[in-house]
Amino acid sequence: MSKRKIRIAFVGTGSISGIYLENLTKVFKEVEIAGICDLIRERAERRSKEFGPFKIYNDMYEIFADPTVDVVLNITRPDEHYEVTKAALLAGKHVYSEKPLASTLERGRELVELALERGLYLGGAPDTFMGAAIQTARELIEEGAIGTLVGGCGHMKCRGHESWHRDPEFYYKRGGGPLLDMGPYYVTAFITLLGSVKSVQAVNRTTYPTRTITSEEKYGQIITVDVPTHVNALMEFENGAVAHLLTTFDTFSTDFCNRIEIYGSEGTMIVPDPNNFCDPVKISRGGGREPEIHPVRFGYDFDARALGLCDMCNAIRDGREARASYKMTYHALEVMMGIVRAGDERRVIEIESRHDNPPLMKKGLEDGILD
Ligand SMILES: NC(=O)c1ccc[n+]([C@@H]2O[C@H](COP(=O)([O-])OP(=O)(O)OC[C@H]3O[C@@H](n4cnc5c(N)ncnc54)[C@H](O)[C@@H]3O)[C@@H](O)[C@H]2O)c1
Repeated sequence: MSKRKIRIAFVGTGSISGIYLENLTKVFKEVEIAGICDLIRERAERRSKEFGPFKIYNDMYEIFADPTVDVVLNITRPDEHYEVTKAALLAGKHVYSEKPLASTLERGRELVELALERGLYLGGAPDTFMGAAIQTARELIEEGAIGTLVGGCGHMKCRGHESWHRDPEFYYKRGGGPLLDMGPYYVTAFITLLGSVKSVQAVNRTTYPTRTITSEEKYGQIITVDVPTHVNALMEFENGAVAHLLTTFDTFSTDFCNRIEIYGSEGTMIVPDPNNFCDPVKISRGGGREPEIHPVRFGYDFDARALGLCDMCNAIRDGREARASYKMTYHALEVMMGIVRAGDERRVIEIESRHDNPPLMKKGLEDGILD
């Protein structure tokens, strides 16, 4: 007997909605799009023409009132996530949210408590840790390929998003900045590869108090920067490993950028860009030898955004745990907010939450089928 398809409705059809719609209509076969909405209706209409046609809801409340919608996909801006997710949970809908879970730790905690109270699924991005590259890295580490874990290092360096994003103000407001924007990919990858974070320290700065938009629609407009934009963190993991993380909108990128290294007693693992799903994993064992190249062993070696959402839908359907669940997004949020606080207060911040890895992704299934 074929299983029921879980139905998803979009709140927000801005920049990132394109890849979700592309993958939900062309790759993932076990879910259905119930409809979409945006405060700016033309944006939803444009997406419906590009990828649909879809039902266009007038607003999110119309989605919440539709009994045929199972899951609300919240892809609004970071500081809007809380309001939308809370309202959806209160209306009895499961929610999958873009990162971060919320723009403050208190708000994130409230959302988790609400979901648990109501018996609803709450999950969210990033889902790149479920992609071919990081799953392969995790399996290699679990097999002992680099020995006992010592630590790691990750760098995300760029000059900000105001040169390409249509509406980039949110990147410099509460819930934004390089740590809350790009950090989720790195922190989530580190948690997947090194385990739960126990404490954090940081020294942060805001180099440029304003930013000038150079993308087309708002060219020349000035943004006041409210968040740290050069964030230097140290994370201590439960297993004793220690990792550095630099996320910055204040420097140009270099050859050592957009990747993670994991250090072990038997080798150094070079993990590809944690914002992507693909590329082989390398292990360097020193002594002048060439690094070993380990081709990916799992599916989803392309931009498979919506993977975590679809896994959560199957989890709802089959009554299992979702991989990109609130357990990961809340732990990552606590780590990131801890890093901001550690920088502000110049002290070590202990992390209270923890996260155990979900099962590795299944091998050998065709793309778009997860179970
Ligand atoms: N742009 C990217 O490359 C990218 C990549 C990965 C993740 N993300 C994440 O995706 C989220 C959205 O980013 P974006 O770049 O698409 O932003 P965006 O500003 O392009 O789009 C957000 C959209 O949400 C709509 N919206 C806000 N509140 C709403 C409401 N209550 N009801 C209906 N619509 C509402 C806005 O009108 C807007 O069109 C952010 O959390 C961001 O961190 C973005």
